[in-house]
Amino acid sequence: LTVAILAGGLTHERDVSLSSGRRVATLLREAGAQVKVLDVDATLLQRLSSMNPTVVWPLVHGATGEDGALQDLLSLSGYRFVGSTANAARIASNKTVAQSLLRHAGLAVPWSVSFPEALFREVGVAPILDLLGERYEFPLVVKPNLGGSALGVTIVDKPGDLPRAMVDCFAYGEEAHVETFIDGTEVSVSVIDGPEGPIALPPVEIETDGPYDYDARYFAGRAKYYVPARLSDEEEARVTEAALMAHTTLRLRDVSRIDLIVKEDTPYVIDVNIAPGMTETSLLPQAVEAYARENGTSPESLYLQILH
Ligand code: DAL
Repeated sequence: LTVAILAGGLTHERDVSLSSGRRVATLLREAGAQVKVLDVDATLLQRLSSMNPTVVWPLVHGATGEDGALQDLLSLSGYRFVGSTANAARIASNKTVAQSLLRHAGLAVPWSVSFPEALFREVGVAPILDLLGERYEFPLVVKPNLGGSALGVTIVDKPGDLPRAMVDCFAYGEEAHVETFIDGTEVSVSVIDGPEGPIALPPVEIETDGPYDYDARYFAGRAKYYVPARLSDEEEARVTEAALMAHTTLRLRDVSRIDLIVKEDTPYVIDVNIAPGMTETSLLPQAVEAYARENGTSPESLYLQILH
């Protein structure tokens, strides 16, 4: 088994991706695979062709890694790759589109609108509030519509703070996603496809003093994690069901991570990741460890299951 892990790329999450790539490479080597980590640049296809891997695992986070572009390139070049198809990636990585499909499928999601930078430059923030209509109240959350690791994300408490949040957001992408803030317990459920269908790994609960921002995510000790999450059995069943439904509704493949906030027993899906972080402090690896412990298996065997 030879595996080409694609990591890096020219996205704002390049460093996170390189770290994810190194970590998965180590795990797969321990499981007996031959692994090379390839950075994503103009020479990628040439290097893939000389390596001729059994399978490619794209671990580029953010735009071009999760928006379907890399998956299109791999499909067109005839490589078998891990993870969602280009079409599913395009849909899942667009937060507003993904949330609207999940709402139609009956899942709870925040109210949200997307807003292009060009429109903001022309008319300011007033139309955002019109678009949200009667449904919103502050705080709102402003995020780049495509991207992760909480880069460019601001929780906005009052209308006067909205323009600044939009400008920060547009530093990371040309479309903003504005959603209502759900105040509750933040949990994340990783889903991997098994021989009998998708399996939800134990939910990971995130506790932070402030927002779960970039520093809290990647500097050990800044966030506290509980695996499994401190949820009642009923809440755990609901978040697990919501995550599996999100994975299936968006036709995700092999692996995904669904981020949710549980408020008054209702799990709200706030984000869907097709290339979840695999760093030392990331959520999916913690869920894999917990699942492996609970089921008397090894984390390596679960990573191999994702590959197959
Ligand atoms: N976007 C980062 C890598 C994550 O969701 O884990």
